[in-house]
Amino acid sequence: MLRIILCGFGVVGQNFAKLLLSRSEDLYALHGLKLRVVGVFDSKGSAASSAGLDLNRLLEVKKKYGDIRKYHNKEKNANGLEMIKGMDAEVLIETTPSNYKDAEPGMSHIVNAMKNGLHVITVNKGPLALAFPSLIELATYNQVLLKFSGTVGGGTPIIDYAKNSLRGERIVSFQGILNGTTNYILTNMANGMTFKTALADAKKRGYVEADESLDIDGFDAAAKLVILANWIMDMKVTIKDIKRIGIRDVTTSDIKKATANNSAVKLIASCNKELLVAPQQISLDDPLCVNGTLNAITFNSEHSGQQTIIGRGAGGMETASSILRDLLDIRQEMSRR
Ligand code: HSE
Repeated sequence: MLRIILCGFGVVGQNFAKLLLSRSEDLYALHGLKLRVVGVFDSKGSAASSAGLDLNRLLEVKKKYGDIRKYHNKEKNANGLEMIKGMDAEVLIETTPSNYKDAEPGMSHIVNAMKNGLHVITVNKGPLALAFPSLIELATYNQVLLKFSGTVGGGTPIIDYAKNSLRGERIVSFQGILNGTTNYILTNMANGMTFKTALADAKKRGYVEADESLDIDGFDAAAKLVILANWIMDMKVTIKDIKRIGIRDVTTSDIKKATANNSAVKLIASCNKELLVAPQQISLDDPLCVNGTLNAITFNSEHSGQQTIIGRGAGGMETASSILRDLLDIRQEMSRR
């Protein structure tokens, strides 16, 4: 039995709850995995039960009142840190929004959980972007696991592919389209829209982060690059080490020039001689050149050459499925120990 504390009950948190409701039987039958969500908290308050929360009721309460405190019909609830420090649980799942200034509140959740002996799964990129090397050190020191497979590629297992399927290989370099929002905007610009109209359209469809700068100015792609560089290339870097140019200054004329070259402008995150996020021309024949909100990454390895993975890089249910993947890994590692 794994007891879970869930931080954040937004799109990803709610989809995770739905996934547990629909998958609990086969997770047990196929993997012997039993999960119990004992606590959930967000910026407003919390709901908790050591016997396990009724996730149907929690989702209903959230939908009806927009406030999970109503689960208990009482005003005073434990705050997140009290819950992390005081509740018996094995895993903390961190789904609060990424921020690249101080990474809070996710950073405090993750650090306190690991200090209290909880394994952590984060889909929040902020803490990893600002402090990947020290968070890994803290996990090792406290003998807990820090898992983050949903931070790059959403449900598409980019991190696991590079780390596990390519083990024994030497990845020499990689380059990828790691931000779906900017890819959607650039795709629409290639189809004739201006940057402004394409941005407005992406906003209307709910793709753009609440702070649009995180997508448009390349912070999100840079955070993903930090995670890959540390975990796959063994570099000790943070977001300060990334040279970052967003797509704000990409003009219609840049797009036309690329089209004339049988290419497209894409926001590329690359790890080669340097760590760089910048708009670049990519040949339309290159498998990396995907359109819409898709993500893609090409790994260049010493012995097996180039491989490209393509998939949906975001979305509530997709990201929730990556959390399930991490939970299965944690369960496996716990049995091994
Ligand atoms: N804003 C991100 C994107 C969401 O557009 O790819 C997933 O990290």
